[in-house]
Amino acid sequence: MAEYRWNQSELAAGYNVGATLVHPHYVEMQDAILAEMAGAGATDGLVVDLGGGSGRLIERVLDRWPDTTALIVDQSQAFLDLAASRLERFGERTSFVFRRLQEDWRGVVTQPAAAIVSMSAIHHLDPDEKQQCYQRCFDSLRPGGVLLNGDEVRAELDDVYREQVECWAEHMQTLIESEAVTPAMAEALRGWRKQNVEEFGGSRVSGDDCHETSDSQLGYFAQAGFEQTSVPWRRELWALLKGVRVGSVDSSC
Ligand SMILES: C[S@@+](CC[C@H](N)C(=O)[O-])C[C@H]1O[C@@H](n2cnc3c(N)ncnc32)[C@H](O)[C@@H]1O
Repeated sequence: MAEYRWNQSELAAGYNVGATLVHPHYVEMQDAILAEMAGAGATDGLVVDLGGGSGRLIERVLDRWPDTTALIVDQSQAFLDLAASRLERFGERTSFVFRRLQEDWRGVVTQPAAAIVSMSAIHHLDPDEKQQCYQRCFDSLRPGGVLLNGDEVRAELDDVYREQVECWAEHMQTLIESEAVTPAMAEALRGWRKQNVEEFGGSRVSGDDCHETSDSQLGYFAQAGFEQTSVPWRRELWALLKGVRVGSVDSSC
């Protein structure tokens, strides 16, 4: 079986340096997550980043709010190594767990979290896995805690969705041709184009780009118990999905 693409160290290094080029709204989406955390009062306590990669978002969280600690959960040791190096200056405020989001990761969250954040990772889960993951998020948050998933989402209308993936693929092609990204990153971008443009509408399995609409996913949020669900930010293929855990913590979790 081919190795899952995000596990290759050259790709992790390539994404680490090229994220803001590859993702046209990378910083803006991070800004939106930080703004929502501030609005929800999630500026102290534990912040969990699911698929947190090389720790770029958590670095901003820890710099901004000294009363936070952070846990990054990721299935790529290559990404986690980069995160450990980036966040070394924060010492014991950080921890890292090697885990697939398809698994039950609740046991590694040692205290109810103030916020669970994620960027560009959860769309790799198939629909059932997303629902389970969002349930685990709900179970792991403190009362008032917030889930913020900034991710690739499918537009309601097929032709709009197609236009959005084609637009991003064109952007990727420009990066490849101008050699603005590393060879490993260029290879991954070609793979993204094949799956999402050339094979548009094809079947998807866990690990692929399992794009789902905001409405479907906010439905999963509600099923998990989240309230105040909304999409506070959206740009082209990307949206920030928000849900709040209102109420008391279930002591069995
Ligand atoms: C595009 S990178 C984004 C990294 C980081 N969130 C950021 O925005 O810079 C995708 C990340 O999700 C992680 N990831 C993908 N699928 C995953 C899964 N099933 N379980 C855990 N992590 C996953 C990858 O290892 C990688 O770190």
